[in-house]
Amino acid sequence: AGPSGPKICCLGAGYVGGPTCAVIAFKCPDVQVTIVDLNADRIAAWNSDSLPIFEPGLDEIVKARRGKNLFFSADVDKGILEADLIFVSVNTPTKKTGVGAGFAADLAYVEAATRRIARVATSSKIVIEKSTVPCRTAESMRAILEANSSGDIRFDILSNPEFLAEGTAISDLMHPDRVLIGSLQTAEGRKAQLALADVYAGWVPREKIITMGLWSSELSKLAANALLAQRISSVNALSAICEATGADVDEVAYACGLDSRIGPKFLKASVGFGGSCFQKDILNLVYLSESLHLPEVAEYWRQVVSLNEYQKLRFSELVIRRLFNTITHKHIAVFGFAFKKNTGDTRESPAITLVKHFIQEQAFVHIYDPKVEQSQIEADLTHPDVGTLHQYKNYVTIHTCPYDASKAVDAIVVMTEWDEFQQLDYQRVYKNMNKPAFIFDGRLILDAKKLRGIGFQVEVIGRQA
Ligand code: UDX
Ligand code: UDX
Ligand code: ADP
Repeated sequence: AGPSGPKICCLGAGYVGGPTCAVIAFKCPDVQVTIVDLNADRIAAWNSDSLPIFEPGLDEIVKARRGKNLFFSADVDKGILEADLIFVSVNTPTKKTGVGAGFAADLAYVEAATRRIARVATSSKIVIEKSTVPCRTAESMRAILEANSSGDIRFDILSNPEFLAEGTAISDLMHPDRVLIGSLQTAEGRKAQLALADVYAGWVPREKIITMGLWSSELSKLAANALLAQRISSVNALSAICEATGADVDEVAYACGLDSRIGPKFLKASVGFGGSCFQKDILNLVYLSESLHLPEVAEYWRQVVSLNEYQKLRFSELVIRRLFNTITHKHIAVFGFAFKKNTGDTRESPAITLVKHFIQEQAFVHIYDPKVEQSQIEADLTHPDVGTLHQYKNYVTIHTCPYDASKAVDAIVVMTEWDEFQQLDYQRVYKNMNKPAFIFDGRLILDAKKLRGIGFQVEVIGRQA
């Protein structure tokens, strides 16, 4: 006999859908979870020994439940037909053309997924919006589902935004600060809300499962990401003042973070934030504010993204300035290409922007990242907004070892805070570099004093040299 609890299907086997549903299956052996995707290659990878995404702890839980109550399938319609609850966890990239280009979310994938549910379903479903989407998307989904429902089939729509961060996804999912479920404030809406809450209650304390209206729930997700990104831009703005005045941004952040009203987390200065969410969600908020005729509000949030661009540019300029105002035909090692440690994801990684600047100056760039695939780096650096294949072939070399990457280079630029960069033998690194040997710490993770003792010229964000 199979599991006796509700059946869940998830449309979209990506960074959000994959880990989320794997944890549900792991924590609720009673629930049958099927993750489907249009991309058959991605599904094949989920069914193989080498999962399509790297996330600490993910392999173990997938292996523990796969084939028992966790299934990955390219048969989208079968997944829909069998499920009681359907998560919609498809991609929502920023629109590239048309109205709202560069700001608004492209909801074509969400709409296509919703229409497919409406077309295929032969029984009532609870449809759960999991992708980050602008407010009122749930309303559009509801309209599509209702217009396409017939007779005794009903669709209830919930908003259940995911707050996991990459690199810590499994522990975030196992121990969430909160689970948020938005619904229509009707009897049926509350019933659907309860059905989903019962699944999470398999491992999350009830008081952490909070319920509210659909629109509040959708806005809460955008707001949380905007507030987090705003903290980073705030501390990065302070880092520029520190560099100009001799204060130390780590000390300033530490002092501020001790105020319980501020708190210590998310105050680490850096070369800039990346990742698939922050910029996209803030630009969504900007677009929303403008659509609501609130230009001052739009401008406020837009500034968080502008400051992030400024931070990346400032760092590139620092590298060029210190290397005697030219990096043309110099060799630069880039340590880390992922947007943060413990992930192989490069979406919106600040490393892409920095390497783009270096290549435009015709520097030879040597990239080392412990988890990012070479094909991904090539795709990112040959994207039309970044560079050409010709530039990539002439100026970029990918290395599988940090010592090789830094051999005979003029400078090392630390882009990602991988732990291993703290443990390298910097005596050895120094010996093999051109002199003067520069190291630029874009993540404030290295022991600058020790490196100076070895002979390095060290530059750290938020600190005077
Ligand atoms: C502030 C700092 O809190 C304190 O640490 C510093 O030493 C002096 O400045 P104060 O101005 O006395 O203290 O009061 P505070 O509680 O910070 O409130 C400042 C203003 O912000 C008030 O008008 C308050 O109504 C408003 N406020 C505060 C909000 O509108 N929303 C909030 O969530 C908090
Ligand atoms: C973020 C939110 O944290 C998560 O709740 C939401 O569900 C998705 O978006 P993620 O983008 O995966 O998660 O990673 P996060 O840890 O938030 O880091 C985002 C970027 O900010 C990274 O580039 C990181 O290096 C940078 N960052 C983070 C800083 O520069 N300083 C900090 O103090 C924290
Ligand atoms: P996220 O970071 O939000 O999880 P990803 O791009 O990693 O985003 O994953 C989204 C996945 O959704 C992709 O693998 C894509 O193929 C899949 N997808 C898009 N549209 C549909 C659909 N209608 N049905 C099933 N899967 C879909």
